[in-house]
Amino acid sequence: MSKGNFRTFDPAKEDGAEPPQPRGNSLRDRIRRSEQAQQPAPATSRSGYVHQPQAQPELEPPSASAQQEAPQEAAAPQQDHSPAPAQEQTERPAPQPSPREEAANAPVAAQAEKQPNPEDSPQQASDGDNAIQPIGVVLEIAGSGSQVAIDLQRLTECADDKDPSVAMAGQVGSQIKIRVGNSWLLASVRNQKRDRKAGSILANIDFLGEGVEEKLTGRLHGFRRGVTRYPVPGALVYPASTADLKQVYASDGRSAVTIGKVYPTKDIRAGIYVDAMLGKHFALLGSTGTGKSTSAALILHRICEAAPEGHIVMIDPHGEYASAFRQTGVILDVSNLQMPYWIMNFEEHCEVLLTSNGNDRQIDADILARCLLKARQKSRLAEQMGKITVDSPIPYLLSDLSNAIQDAMGKLDKATNSAPYMRIKNKLEELKTDPRYQFMFSGMLVADTMADFISKIFRMPAGGKPISIIDVSGVPSDITSTVVAVLSRLVFDFAIWGREEKTTPILLVCEEAHRYVPSEKNADGNSVGTILSRIAKEGRKYGISLGLITQRPSDLAEGVLSQCGTIISMRLNNDRDQDFVRAAMPEGARGFLDAIPALRNRECIICGEGVAIPIRVSFDNLEEVKRPASEDPSFVEMWSQSGGEEDIVQRTVQRWRSQG
Ligand SMILES: Nc1ncnc2c1ncn2[C@@H]1O[C@H](COP(=O)(O)OP(=O)(O)O)[C@@H](O)[C@H]1O
Ligand SMILES: [Mg+2]
Repeated sequence: MSKGNFRTFDPAKEDGAEPPQPRGNSLRDRIRRSEQAQQPAPATSRSGYVHQPQAQPELEPPSASAQQEAPQEAAAPQQDHSPAPAQEQTERPAPQPSPREEAANAPVAAQAEKQPNPEDSPQQASDGDNAIQPIGVVLEIAGSGSQVAIDLQRLTECADDKDPSVAMAGQVGSQIKIRVGNSWLLASVRNQKRDRKAGSILANIDFLGEGVEEKLTGRLHGFRRGVTRYPVPGALVYPASTADLKQVYASDGRSAVTIGKVYPTKDIRAGIYVDAMLGKHFALLGSTGTGKSTSAALILHRICEAAPEGHIVMIDPHGEYASAFRQTGVILDVSNLQMPYWIMNFEEHCEVLLTSNGNDRQIDADILARCLLKARQKSRLAEQMGKITVDSPIPYLLSDLSNAIQDAMGKLDKATNSAPYMRIKNKLEELKTDPRYQFMFSGMLVADTMADFISKIFRMPAGGKPISIIDVSGVPSDITSTVVAVLSRLVFDFAIWGREEKTTPILLVCEEAHRYVPSEKNADGNSVGTILSRIAKEGRKYGISLGLITQRPSDLAEGVLSQCGTIISMRLNNDRDQDFVRAAMPEGARGFLDAIPALRNRECIICGEGVAIPIRVSFDNLEEVKRPASEDPSFVEMWSQSGGEEDIVQRTVQRWRSQG
């Protein structure tokens, strides 16, 4: 397809582009040159942790030795060193014994050297050298975290390792392991700081759990969350290899669905424990375009595959998910939802029928309550039931409600204002005649279809289609939130009234959740916020699971996020949102949390109940037919085509006018 007159762009060749600078003097250039300078240096340090005093002159405050360095300032920093460390650097031949003199002027290394180092023995493990050599040493233990020093040289050595998790070892968000007796502690690196005195890197770590050491290979085995025995300062720190992580992320036997790969490994599958995730609600967060909707579809597809007789209700405000679930779900929109108006409770009736505010609203509500009860009582069903209330989901005729209002108005003394009655009656009339409201306020919906309606939306029986997509994009915006409220309340009430039965649990997934459970500052007092907050707080007692999807976690009602036992966070660009998520996530996930602004599209951090330990996951590629229709339009492509515009406009106007 032609791309019109658009062309590609090469900044270097544009007019006015500056020729590339052959040799810069920026910090980055210097680091690059220093790395090159380091290349020929022996890359192994079999003795384990070797302390490397590597002063970086450009960051150091001026010192006595700085004067000597001045003339070579622009050259590779390795040669910039004051003479002593530079010598050490070149003095390290390949399989060297640990340089004692170094240890002497570096307490960190001294501690490290005192530890017996079983890794010196020949290894049966297939892990490369880097995986079995320490990269650092524990400096301090405090509470759930601790501080380690990581050797810069070892970090560089590891960086080239072909095992990606060894290559990442020591970096923020990576995993490391620490030897404690015969077991390994697994920890994640939260942050890094340059250690000025010793020249190594100081890092805070968070413990994730522990496992035993496999005798033959030295690998981590039988991993469990939580720590029973802490290391002492001086314990050695090793990179966690892919083989280690395989053990860590292996399913512990609970049923799980796999959704992608554990970052940074190439082949470890990332799974989430379905019962644990759904048992305590979950939230899926991420800025627009990071892949939230597609990831939600992916997770739901995997759950549907695992549970073809499940019960999932998805509220879809943009009509995106229909295309994704045509095979495995039922799609309900304004054309076939047929949600009877009488299923609303009194509060929901008020939201739809009352137009006034302040004092007037209270007057109108009182009138509506009386008349609605009268209308409900008129039905044959009510006669059989005996006692009913304004909230009882009993079918009534819209004309009965209208007549009840008319009658009440007729009984007024002259002095009383008839305006409130007229307001309700007019609104009722409007809803009855406006075609946009027919999915709910049609005279055809008067039959008692409650059981059918519930079976349909909750997929009972599921019949191999466990998910219902409720596309509310066609619902007039003034009642969308009420429609969502009704659906959510039905889930809740069904669970409450069904608690004597052996009803199966229901998962309610809500896209754009910040619209429906808004924070106090955006609150509009709609019943949907109340019911969803209630489900968040009490739902799990009744077997309801809530899945909230939003790009604005900071706009969610307070407390709702912390009710979510599992948080799946994709990239969040906004600071406030990041803070919110940080507050809702467990302590141990700190290192991962800092990665949230730096995640790529389709990557996420998962922490909480649904996973054994916090993980960073790159989601699988979802087949096109299973993706939601949220594809961004290509302006370039669309704007290069022409033809048929008049017809398009005509047809659109036609649909617009006929409202259908
Ligand atoms: N796992 C995935 N597999 C295939 N495509 C994906 C995946 N995740 C995201 N995408 C693509 O990325 C784009 C944005 O994803 P989307 O789910 O709409 O993001 P969001 O809901 O966060 O705005 C879409 O075009 C989608 O096809
Ligand atoms: Mg989306």
